[in-house]
Amino acid sequence: MKKIAAIILYGAFATLMVHCSPKASKAISELPVESKEQIVAQYSPQQLESGKTIFMSSCNKCHKLKEPGSRTPEQWNKVLKRMIPKARLSDEDGKLVRAYLIANSKTAIDK
Ligand code: HEC
Repeated sequence: MKKIAAIILYGAFATLMVHCSPKASKAISELPVESKEQIVAQYSPQQLESGKTIFMSSCNKCHKLKEPGSRTPEQWNKVLKRMIPKARLSDEDGKLVRAYLIANSKTAIDK
C-alpha cells in the first residue's frame, strides 16, 4: 500500500514539474540542433536583424553581451536553453535571438 502511495505521489510531482517549467525553455529545448546554414535558410535577414535587436536589449541585463562568434551552434543551443527563460523572452523572440546567434556563431572548424 505504501508503495502505491509513493508511486502516486511521484506521478503527481512529475506532472507538476512538467507543468511548472517555463514554456519558452520547453519550446526552445525541443528545437533540434541546427547548423548555421540551416538557420540562414529558415530565417530572413529581417528576422535575423530583429533577433540581434532583441539580443542587444535583453541579454545584457545580468552580464555583458557575449559575442555571437564566441560559441559554436551546439554551444549556443545548450546555453540558450538556460538563458532565454532567464531573459523572459517569448517563444518567438527566443527563436529570433537563437537564430541570430547561431547565424553568427563560430564554425566548428575554428573551434
Ligand atoms: C536574469 C539574468 C540573466 C539574463 C537576462 C541572461 N543571462 Fe546569461 N547568464 C546569467 C548568469 C547568472 C550566468 C552565469 C551562470 C551560468 O552559466 O548559468 C550567465 C551566463 C551566460 C553565458 C555563459 C554560460 C556558459 O556556460 O558558457 C552565456 C553565453 C550567456 N549567459 C548568454 C546569455 C544570452 C544570449 C542571454 C539573452 C537571451 C542571456 N545570457 C541573458 C544570467 C543571465
